[in-house]
Amino acid sequence: MNHWRQQAMTLNDRLVQMRRHIHRYPELGYKEVKTASYLAEILRSEGIEIRENVGGTGLVATIIGASPGRTIALRADMDALPVYEKTGKSYSSSIPGVSHVCGHDAHSAMLVGAALLLQKNRRQIAGTVKCIFQAAEECPPLGGVRPMIEDGVLDNPSVDAIYALHVTPDLPLGKLGIAPGLAMAASDRVEIKILGSGGHGSAPQQTVDAILVASHVVVALQSIVSRNTTPHVPAVLSIGVARAGYRYNVIADTAFLDCTVRTIDSHTRQLMQDRIEQIVEGVTMAMGARYELRYTAGYPPAANYAAQVEQVVQAAEAVLGESSVKLLERPSLTGEDFAHFLERIPGAFFWLGSRLGDGHKQHPAHHPGFDLDEAVLPLGTAIFCQIIEQELSR
Ligand code: NI
Repeated sequence: MNHWRQQAMTLNDRLVQMRRHIHRYPELGYKEVKTASYLAEILRSEGIEIRENVGGTGLVATIIGASPGRTIALRADMDALPVYEKTGKSYSSSIPGVSHVCGHDAHSAMLVGAALLLQKNRRQIAGTVKCIFQAAEECPPLGGVRPMIEDGVLDNPSVDAIYALHVTPDLPLGKLGIAPGLAMAASDRVEIKILGSGGHGSAPQQTVDAILVASHVVVALQSIVSRNTTPHVPAVLSIGVARAGYRYNVIADTAFLDCTVRTIDSHTRQLMQDRIEQIVEGVTMAMGARYELRYTAGYPPAANYAAQVEQVVQAAEAVLGESSVKLLERPSLTGEDFAHFLERIPGAFFWLGSRLGDGHKQHPAHHPGFDLDEAVLPLGTAIFCQIIEQELSR
């Protein structure tokens, strides 16, 4: 068995313990204070150099190898989501309405594991490893990466390449997925307010019904992807919030729509933005209403670098075995602010299979019942370490 996998297995109980602790005390983006200090305490007690409060609640652990060399960064995210957990686990979230239903608890535990093993093996390392625990991955448009970059996370020493992983129920345990090029989409937000004129439910002729106008807007917006964008390039417009109304016999004066837009190229991204505004303007005008629209550009698309993809594939084959890698032909339309790192330095983002075993109901990420197979924890730790060995061997 691969020696990193063996070493990571000896840490298994600690990894599970860490993951469950973080899981039990989840914190939302920009508020990962207890999470960061919990991780900092573990790292500090092993003699690892740490820097706290980087760009807010971010944490950086630095492992200095026995001889000089390049600097490679590994990244995990720490934030939870505003979701009521319904896994029924003994270590379920103790904070009502906040939970780790995206697996960031596992990412943080895996990276601490890697830091501990790399520190122990630092005599074999030529160069420096920066373990970056980032805040607020789930908080576009700002996110947690940009404040950390502004606070110098990529400097002193400057980082040559960066890697990150995300657990996924889409792959079975022991499999790794990576996109050779474009890995993730741009994710933007559109907030639309329809301004009508309210009144009595019995006298619609005296009103401009904001709910009716919003309904037409919702339907018309869905024509953009089917009729305006090219069928060869993916694009998504999802309306996550539609809010209006006061009472069954009152015609609403305003309605609010909150939408996400996912695209993978700048042309389609601009086209979506333009068509949304044209449709909202046209429909509201035709129906005698007015509108306010705010389009917020979120995370940019994330494109993996060929050389780093090659490193991940090699590391996966070493740790998980041959034919463990699935090369993803299409990008995921999720958004990730890891993209901000990839705009500046080479790197790669990959998916690590964490699907529950047979007999367990698997829910997708962000679902209140989302759960993962904890056997993924030492695998993630070992792959991180293997990548560093390949990059920084003495
Ligand atoms: Ni996530």
